[in-house]
Amino acid sequence: MRVKPLIVLGIETSCDETGVAIYDSRQGLLADCLYSQVEIHAKYGGVIPELASRDHIRKTLPLIKQALAAAGITQSALDGVAYTAGPGLIGALLVGAAIGRALGMGLNVPTIGVHHMEGHLLAPMLEPDPPAFPFVALLVSGGHTQLVRVDGIGRYEILGESLDDAAGEAFDKVGKMLGLPYPGGPRVEELARSGRPGQFDFPRPMTNRPGLDFSFSGLKTFVRNTIAQHSDSEGALQQQTRADIARAFEEAVVATLAIKCRRALQHTGLNSLILAGGVSANIRLRKELEKTVGKANGRLFYAQARFCTDNGAMIAYAGCQRLLAGQHDDLSIQARPRWSLESLPAL
Ligand code: KG4
Ligand code: ZN
Repeated sequence: MRVKPLIVLGIETSCDETGVAIYDSRQGLLADCLYSQVEIHAKYGGVIPELASRDHIRKTLPLIKQALAAAGITQSALDGVAYTAGPGLIGALLVGAAIGRALGMGLNVPTIGVHHMEGHLLAPMLEPDPPAFPFVALLVSGGHTQLVRVDGIGRYEILGESLDDAAGEAFDKVGKMLGLPYPGGPRVEELARSGRPGQFDFPRPMTNRPGLDFSFSGLKTFVRNTIAQHSDSEGALQQQTRADIARAFEEAVVATLAIKCRRALQHTGLNSLILAGGVSANIRLRKELEKTVGKANGRLFYAQARFCTDNGAMIAYAGCQRLLAGQHDDLSIQARPRWSLESLPAL
């Protein structure tokens, strides 16, 4: 059976970025627009959910217009609408879900609620040389740290996950302890570049026992104690010590993730590894995982930096694949703050 090609609008509003993109199943990505709320939340040191929802309301429709103009099409050319239905902040999700569903109804085209982590997981598919199934995926974002066996779209088996803080969350919290603005991940990476190797040795949590789960809260406490020990009477750290701590922390997270990835490849007998989610933008992590897959004679895949953190393109892509397979929403508006990746239907 020949499947009709589709042009799909994707809307991402699960947290603090409004992302809108248009994906064409024949030609690929036609437009990709992003508005980051970082400045709004930075003065509070983290995301304020109510401010996030309100700003998504302001930004989503103008971004849709901008994306249509950038793609050189009108809304009548759309064959479907995909929006992030979860997991995420409920108010923020509801904005994208309500706009997506209303647009679908108005245009009389099908809509589909996309799982945010499936979006991240499939983002490397937007690259020119995409991975083939099956593979192991390491999903590292602000809310999730998961190792997943992926046999196809919707065929996910969680091999391990964080029992407490997500990797990105640990980066953000350590960033805050080091006096860096939100979000801490990219800032910690930047500071770590001037850190000296071997000044501090931080633990690699849960690596000396079997299993593929993670825990980053103990490491965070270790960093807090180290900062306290090395601060002066006013609670200030020397700049070089800050950088050394940032480096040791980054190395500990990266080493921990790499050890578990190696185990996951051994456990599954697979040798393709996908790295996705905001933390996948981290260069030390990419380099270390290149070594890990190299030893397994495998390959590492990741998206270009703008598709590692939250964006509309990954939602348009994931939604398009599901719409092509004939899946779509019923009449209800779907927004699920918690949603298991394993519960998704297979294609
Ligand atoms: O995927 P994402 O944009 O949003 C969620 O779904 O959570 O991930 C955001 C997370 C934040 O915790 C941010 O600090 C982290 O990804 N992050 C990084 C880097 N860029 C973003 N962490 C470490 N190194 C980076 N370069
Ligand atoms: Zn995300």
